[in-house]
Amino acid sequence: MSESTFVRVARVTDLPRGRMLEVTVGSRSILLCHTREGWYAVDNICTHAYAKLSEGRLRKAKLVCPLHGGTFDCRTGEAVGAPAVRPVGVYAVRLTGDHVEIAVEEQPADS
Ligand code: FES
Repeated sequence: MSESTFVRVARVTDLPRGRMLEVTVGSRSILLCHTREGWYAVDNICTHAYAKLSEGRLRKAKLVCPLHGGTFDCRTGEAVGAPAVRPVGVYAVRLTGDHVEIAVEEQPADS
């Protein structure tokens, strides 16, 4: 069974509200979103045809894919606009002082 570990990915001051930031944790590209409702993190790759969501737009809590305009709710990862239908993965986010941390699952050593 894998466990989650919080990893520091940015400073709070790196990301004003309404903006998003691509961060890399291990081999994963994760998109950190600072919305009016809080901080969220999702996989940065669209589930429709694998575009980088970081090259799209953040509208309130909606991520708009740059390639075909599919949309995702960054709070839940749910696909909320066609042609995207499958959700993107989500990660827990916490703020510790000036730092933003994301919970990622530890990979087994032999994977
Ligand atoms: Fe994102 Fe098509 S690649 S909607």
